Amino acid sequence: MTIPALQALRDRGEKITMLTCYDASFAALMDRCGVETLLIGDSLGMVCQGHSSTLPVTVQEIAYHTASVARGNRTALVLADLPFGAYATPESAFANAVPVIQAGAQMVKIEGGAWLAPTVRFLVERAIPVCGHLGLTPQSVHQMGGYKVQGKTSAAAEQLKADALALQEAGASLLVLEAIPAALGKEVSELLTIPTIGIGAGPDCSGQVLVMHDLMGVFPGHKARFVKDFMQGQTSIDAAVLAYVRAVKDKSFPAPEHCF
Ligand code: KIV
Ligand code: NA
Repeated sequence: MTIPALQALRDRGEKITMLTCYDASFAALMDRCGVETLLIGDSLGMVCQGHSSTLPVTVQEIAYHTASVARGNRTALVLADLPFGAYATPESAFANAVPVIQAGAQMVKIEGGAWLAPTVRFLVERAIPVCGHLGLTPQSVHQMGGYKVQGKTSAAAEQLKADALALQEAGASLLVLEAIPAALGKEVSELLTIPTIGIGAGPDCSGQVLVMHDLMGVFPGHKARFVKDFMQGQTSIDAAVLAYVRAVKDKSFPAPEHCF
């Protein structure tokens, strides 16, 4: 899987599947089930390390998990988060993206809007593809005052659309949209030409992403509205991942009860 191949899926209206992944065995499983993109999310701070936020995660930890995923994967596109504090400037973003790319990621993801446009350009000019992340951006939990749905007022929605366009204009290849009204997810997805990947952003994004622990129903913490336990009715993890892929492809997930 490559960036042009993802773009081609989006252009012909086929939904893109993404799951978070943190180790080699699950990477092999997801890859053989046809998951197109594997994200080493800084959610690993919560689901693997047991922290209450993503803030403690380091670049070295992301690189460690990325190397493990890359060893288990064969064909999926691998992307990894740059963690909190790792991209305050374009130069520091590049310095921190290098070990993550060298560990096996094909793209890095960064959270934030138009202020990141120079950083996106700086990375892309230096051959590092970038995925943006707008809406609920967990690294900004203190600024947001908790994990809350974003883009609900018309001013916030306009700001989010402007941010999305700025990231695309700067050269982003992909954009994650988290916890925003489904109508705004649709608007942004129609406004942009690059693929959008939603998590709590409605059914009209170009693709969907879930945290693997949520897909399996094993995360003991708060269960967000957009989460679905795909182990229900299945007797193996392979079957649950296949059910997720099928549900994203046939557009039965996310259903209205998963949307804002
Ligand atoms: O860290 C993560 O798992 C993420 C996804 C939820 C998009 O950023
Ligand atoms: Na993340």
